[in-house]
Amino acid sequence: MFDLIIRNANLPDSRKGIDIAVKDGKIAAIEASITAEAKEVIDATDRLVSPPFVDPHFHMDATLSLGLPRMNVSGTLLEGIALWGELRPIVTKEELVDRALRYCDLAVTQGLLFIRSHVDTSDPKLVTAEALLEVKDRVKPYIDLQLVAFPQDGYYRARDGVSSLERALDMGVDIVGGIPHFERTMDEGRASVEALCRIAADRGLPVDMHCDETDDPLSRHIETLAAETVRFGLQGRVAGSHLTSMHSMDNYYVSKLIPLMAEARINVIPNPLINIMLQGRHDTYPKRRGMTRVRELMDAGLNVSFGHDCVMDPWYSMGSGDMLEVGHMAIHVAQMAGIEDKKKIFDALTVNSAKTMGLEGYGLEKGCNADFVVLQAVDTLEALRLKPNRLAVIKRGKIVARSAPRIGELFLDGRPSKIDGGLDYVPGKKSR
Ligand code: FE2
Repeated sequence: MFDLIIRNANLPDSRKGIDIAVKDGKIAAIEASITAEAKEVIDATDRLVSPPFVDPHFHMDATLSLGLPRMNVSGTLLEGIALWGELRPIVTKEELVDRALRYCDLAVTQGLLFIRSHVDTSDPKLVTAEALLEVKDRVKPYIDLQLVAFPQDGYYRARDGVSSLERALDMGVDIVGGIPHFERTMDEGRASVEALCRIAADRGLPVDMHCDETDDPLSRHIETLAAETVRFGLQGRVAGSHLTSMHSMDNYYVSKLIPLMAEARINVIPNPLINIMLQGRHDTYPKRRGMTRVRELMDAGLNVSFGHDCVMDPWYSMGSGDMLEVGHMAIHVAQMAGIEDKKKIFDALTVNSAKTMGLEGYGLEKGCNADFVVLQAVDTLEALRLKPNRLAVIKRGKIVARSAPRIGELFLDGRPSKIDGGLDYVPGKKSR
């Protein structure tokens, strides 16, 4: 007797009609037609069952703070940073915890069960780190939360940037962050990359830097990050977030840079919603898209995973915790419209992000953790197109969220009818 069987599921790798049996929080079997019984059964006929979504780049200390203490009038990255600098000294731990927990509830309903969040360490009081460490502990039964010590105002540029970052790591923050393009000079940016990689090597921690989030093609800190990664033996443990300057770089320079990044096994984290919103702001027309070179980096064998970055905060007034919205934007901005392209985009929201975060036991194989999301879509392509309801979200074999299917009811020509998902369309299928 199994604890749970999900029957007749479609999987992201295109297998159809697969049963998934769960015992003690693990996948005990995954194959067609499992005959054994289970205490609980989910019928997933014509439904996609995926491993949960994974967000490798988020700011949970700022989320849901939209309008506090005022709105971002210009809508720019720099006013967002200034605005967050106004809120940070007056925000309380209780408020931070409350907003983060509300976001985590939203994330679970979206099938998002793994999140890497940056924590601003610029203010030496470190209320942000205290709050998110508490949140990490409280959401542990349903969300795996990793925290990055992020010197938002600059590691060298902020008065206590150096000591605050180390103290946050001492408190238990998991990952070393950075923001080299925001230091006072290119040289201080380069020095910050070296110092932060050294800290990571000494402490045995991963690195995840906001790197070159600018349209300036001469912002080349990713080159230093890749080189320092190799020098300190951190290959595969370092992530470069944003990398938007690569969009504007000279092609010849990029032809040298990408192999260096591959040598360092840099995990690349574009944030499509935020990049398309915030980059290119100094352009008139033509206006740059600003997202990094997703297709070229994937083709070179780099691990590319997409982050949500912001939801209703000083930088972005939109967002819903839905990684399919992130993927949907990525398809458009990267112009990755082919069938195989879209499959790669879905991977970048799931398995690639899991690799970036170093998750163990993630995936749809026997022995993996029984973590799933059942979507109201037949396959990954339909999921990306419709951003459908998450019918069931399962963590370690237990259902942690459910949503009713979206059904459109029609009353046309005196013949009531229903449309599954409100938009379902199968090529070749007849209309009413
Ligand atoms: Fe960010």
